[in-house]
Amino acid sequence: MIKIAVLETQNVNKNFSGLQALKNVSVTLKKQQIIGLIGPNGSGKSTLFNLITNVISQDEETTGNILFEGKIINDQKMHLLAREGLVRTFQVTQIFPKLTVLENMLIASQFHPGENLKKVLVDVFRKLLHKSTWEEEELTFAKKAMEILDFLEISHLAKEKAEVLSGGQRKLLALGRALMTSGKVILLDEPVAGVNPVLSNRIFEKIDQLRKESTTFFIVEHNMDVIMESSDHVFVLSKGEIIADGSPKEIQENPNVLDAYLGDEGE
Ligand SMILES: Nc1ncnc2c1ncn2[C@@H]1O[C@H](COP(=O)(O)OP(=O)(O)OP(=O)(O)O)[C@@H](O)[C@H]1O
Ligand SMILES: [Mg+2]
Repeated sequence: MIKIAVLETQNVNKNFSGLQALKNVSVTLKKQQIIGLIGPNGSGKSTLFNLITNVISQDEETTGNILFEGKIINDQKMHLLAREGLVRTFQVTQIFPKLTVLENMLIASQFHPGENLKKVLVDVFRKLLHKSTWEEEELTFAKKAMEILDFLEISHLAKEKAEVLSGGQRKLLALGRALMTSGKVILLDEPVAGVNPVLSNRIFEKIDQLRKESTTFFIVEHNMDVIMESSDHVFVLSKGEIIADGSPKEIQENPNVLDAYLGDEGE
């Protein structure tokens, strides 16, 4: 079966006042694949995600194109991208600690960074305070949120404040929030950093299950075991450049990849 490209970067460059964070980065993500993005600290992984999802806007220090489903999306706002099915999570998990797990999920379905948070929060709270006035749409969201929490096996925590969650459970909630948006392509920045091995494996099992259904994943992760086991294809960034890409096996056998990591350690 031929898998078509859903997300593509073409010769993307990004400078931060003289520091070249990305150099001619071209990556292609095919539909229903899990694509790993690895590389030493500071190699540009989060910057690439930030550019793709327009967290960093394109400026005079940016060149190249980003295409989603064949369309150039260089300047498209993050919340509009999310609506079209391109969503992400952040390296530092963004949750609202004083809200319940379920409320965190509901907000995700209506709020995407880049929109007016206060306005959205006021709106969501009004609805939460007057549950009897929930409209069909909100009930649908609540049902969907509970289904996702069930799938992630944290539905028993739905009514707990998010602040009581462990680091691993917060990562699951972050994934859950991304799933609320029904993303076609989901970018995960270190989804299992600081998560115990049992929970890490569970998160990756869920990711694999969703991929089989329809989703494409682009995943930054320092945990080599999970990334090598789960990915269909891996890109390696070093000092802003893609220095290798291929199957996990090819990457593991590529001496340049080892050099990139050892060089980083030695500096
Ligand atoms: N907003 C910014 N302003 C200036 N420099 C930045 C900015 N964001 C990133 N950088 C720099 O760009 C380079 C790449 O950073 P980036 O965060 O993309 O690395 P990373 O591969 O995600 O690293 P890590 O594995 O530690 O998360 C680093 O040198 C970093 O200091
Ligand atoms: Mg990063």
